[in-house]
Amino acid sequence: MFLSPQTKIGSRNAAIILQQNSFSLFSISEPVNMETNRILCLGKLCVDIIAECEDFPQEDSDQRCKRQRWQRGGNANNTSTVLSILGAPVEYLGTIANSHELGFLRDDYQRAGIIIDNCVIVDNCSCPVSLVLLSSVSGSRTIIHDSGSLPELTHKDFQVDLGSYAWVHFEGRPSAAEQVKMLRDIDNHNADLEENDRITTSVELEKNRPALAQLIDKADYVFISKDYATAHGFYSKEDAVEGFVDKIREGATVICAWGEDGACAKPKGEPTISVPAISPGTIIDTLGAGDTFNAAMIHALCKGAVLQSALTFACKVAGEKCGMKGFSGLRYTDLSFEAESDGSSSGSK
Ligand code: FRU
Repeated sequence: MFLSPQTKIGSRNAAIILQQNSFSLFSISEPVNMETNRILCLGKLCVDIIAECEDFPQEDSDQRCKRQRWQRGGNANNTSTVLSILGAPVEYLGTIANSHELGFLRDDYQRAGIIIDNCVIVDNCSCPVSLVLLSSVSGSRTIIHDSGSLPELTHKDFQVDLGSYAWVHFEGRPSAAEQVKMLRDIDNHNADLEENDRITTSVELEKNRPALAQLIDKADYVFISKDYATAHGFYSKEDAVEGFVDKIREGATVICAWGEDGACAKPKGEPTISVPAISPGTIIDTLGAGDTFNAAMIHALCKGAVLQSALTFACKVAGEKCGMKGFSGLRYTDLSFEAESDGSSSGSK
């Protein structure tokens, strides 16, 4: 039931054009079947109120910003945004407050082509909001987050037709115990299926929350953030994947992105693969760069890329994102690349 990292999950999308030298042209926006090949992202949705500042403000000062904008935020939500831009059929699942922000969020999802049909709209609570200060001088993003009074999604809320999904991605939340039950449902669903028809799962361990530890052996791919790794005493991406690999399940892969130091991945029992970061030149906006990396990684693996190619692609997309405001410019960026594929399968789910 476990997928090796080389398994052609992406064969469902039939997007790999195999060439004689076993290299394939990776095309990011081929038509895909929304009914069976969807990528589902679960986790946080909030409104990011972003102030673009010349410099980081002084305390107790009164000043003008260059611009202010609202953006859909939250790790899982951002990952869904980038997946959609990359051409993947994508759905976001979470709770959404029935507050004045709902109209903005709903319209924006519709514009982005992201399905939210299974979301739970919750009355009488406030929407999570982040105030984000972007500094043009340093490229830093400072986030002040209010999680509001919106409850987390529970296992009971996980009422989806699992037959619709090729991949389910979880941003690890404080409600990780509920997410473990959802992951168990997916494992049970997979148990009776042929390897090519199974749902691939991933979890993101980003914030240093004790509850997240229970997710590490429950998915096929485990994304460890630099913050999570350093909080656990690992000070390089390689040390991080080597330190966490014993905790992941058989057949799984641990992945770690380390900002300007690139990214690496280690399938259990196999060597570590490291790739360098790809810099955009000028850093404009790093908000959601990690979420972008995760999206690009999932997308590339879904398309059947081998780990090294997927890591290179993810570093490229995350680097490009840091050189632009928000995510939508990725739509107009040349992100095609030569992806090495193991060429083991074809066809759609
Ligand atoms: C970026 C982000 C923002 C959000 C914050 C929540 O990774 O998801 O969109 O405001 O982190 O921690």
